Amino acid sequence: MFELYLDTADAQQVASLNQSLPVFGVTTNPSILAKAGLGVNQALPALAKALNGQARLHVQVVSQTAEDMLAEAIKLHALPYDIVVKVPATRIGLAAIKLMKAEGITVLATAIYSVQQGFFAALCGADYLAPYVNRIDAMGANGIAVVADLQNLINQQGLSTKLLPASFKNTQQVLDILQLGVASITLPVDIAEQMMNHPAVQPAVDQFSSDWQESFGDKLAFES
Ligand code: E4P
Repeated sequence: MFELYLDTADAQQVASLNQSLPVFGVTTNPSILAKAGLGVNQALPALAKALNGQARLHVQVVSQTAEDMLAEAIKLHALPYDIVVKVPATRIGLAAIKLMKAEGITVLATAIYSVQQGFFAALCGADYLAPYVNRIDAMGANGIAVVADLQNLINQQGLSTKLLPASFKNTQQVLDILQLGVASITLPVDIAEQMMNHPAVQPAVDQFSSDWQESFGDKLAFES
């Protein structure tokens, strides 16, 4: 099943979007939480509630050594939520991912800017990879191509790792990524909202209403 995530710590916006979209969970990172002024212990209960208790929540470790990342991940994993521990796919992060997988912790390798970096994280057992599409584009490289190459390698090697592309600044990037058959994606709230809107839709709906009222007044469809 495709997993749609929102990339935010704003529980109100998550609850609102979840009324119209099948939101599978929420991804956070240290910058998102810091900007929102919310620690993990404040953010997670609100985000879980916003998704009626059925939410996969991604939380990043902030420790600097593999051993400390593991200790932090064990604590996060023990929280009463469906937690995925995010680990930056650095050399130290890869070591931490190996340690975490030995403990049965679900892991997302984050801050992925290159195919080789993502492939190594997948080989280390990462359950998810988060390539940063817009950030790669902004560096003059091609975020879509990085995701396409990673998806090919995962398929070729028969790895169970899911791609969870992140960092989007426009809807075309999202559509290009979805065409690649990724298993999941995380969207900023504004991009998710833009994807539900089209300037032609409301005028079309208004025309239906006025045509209907001219012929049938206030009657409902089954009453006509
Ligand atoms: C995922 O959680 C990433 O941290 C996030 O999508 C990065 O997005 P940004 O490039 O908009 O900061």
